[in-house]
Amino acid sequence: MRTIDWVSDADGPAIEIVDQTALPDTTRMLRLRTTAEVVDAIARLAVRGAPALGVAGALGVALAAARDAARAVARDAARAGDAGTAGDGGGAEERLAADVEALRGARPTAVNLARGVDRAAARIPAGPAAVLAEALALRDEEIASSAAMAARGADLVTELVGPAARLLTHCNTGGLATVTGGTALAVVTELHRRGALAGVIASETRPLLQGARLTAWELREAKVPFRVAVDGAGPFLMARGEVDAVILGADRICANGDVVNKVGSYAHALGAARAGIPFLVVAPESTVDDATATGADVPIEDRAAGEVLGFAGHRTTPDGAEAANPAFDVTPHDLVTAIVTDRRVIRPTAR
Ligand code: MRU
Repeated sequence: MRTIDWVSDADGPAIEIVDQTALPDTTRMLRLRTTAEVVDAIARLAVRGAPALGVAGALGVALAAARDAARAVARDAARAGDAGTAGDGGGAEERLAADVEALRGARPTAVNLARGVDRAAARIPAGPAAVLAEALALRDEEIASSAAMAARGADLVTELVGPAARLLTHCNTGGLATVTGGTALAVVTELHRRGALAGVIASETRPLLQGARLTAWELREAKVPFRVAVDGAGPFLMARGEVDAVILGADRICANGDVVNKVGSYAHALGAARAGIPFLVVAPESTVDDATATGADVPIEDRAAGEVLGFAGHRTTPDGAEAANPAFDVTPHDLVTAIVTDRRVIRPTAR
């Protein structure tokens, strides 16, 4: 199943996504038809995860370009029928540029989003069919990347920790975060398929519970044995010898090997270093950003206070409480054992 794709129906073209806000209770598809709908879906994490954001951004540009082309056709038809009724001639280029900017800025941290948008937008002069072809090429590349990472990552885990790996993962890095397969979670499911996985702990990932809601859902669908732990338990479970390696994804990998990922990743990296176990990052080349020198140069998204001050729709903090809610953190490269991409294994510092 593709968790994001391009579809066409009687109402025209659309981006179809699994609504990740409804999981695990409800599996609901959404069809996004306007830039505003795509931006909103990205902002409220109905579609999320770095590679999926890249595909959403590129398809979003394709949607905007297709809509503008359809408008131009309608305008020409109106002109041909009655020169006096054509009123929508101006501003098409500006509108498209504004759409591109809105998509590009919908979330700041995952480099894939801006990259996907820019890649598709570069084809705008060649027309909407070329933009769509570029976006679909990105989609297909991410699908192929997932398969390559799964194989290479599974080989590395077995090499490092043996044939019965007990892993801990954080946030969600499965097909939901990509298109199919996933990054770190694709490695987990590949190990299971090979009979080389003893179990995996999904770190719940406060405040929006991507681990408890999404990773647990995907692992259950794949029939992989798993447990869910609160985020703070991770380092202790490692210290107690219950975890052989940490494996997670990335939103941006900087030139020096710093890894920007869901907040909580850094704590797991510190726990892994203390316990002397590998800390592994799995991400496609589309997440490697050599133009950004270090993690300190990455814009870290701060999200709404309400995500932290309440739980499941109920306020859990006293009136007047304020929140700190960075959605991501930076794991310094010296804590990273290896980064597995679709093309290579990077070892930021041999440890
Ligand atoms: O805020 P989110 O849910 O988009 O954050 C996602 C993550 O941090 C993932 O770990 C990352 O994008 C890797 S996706 C394969």
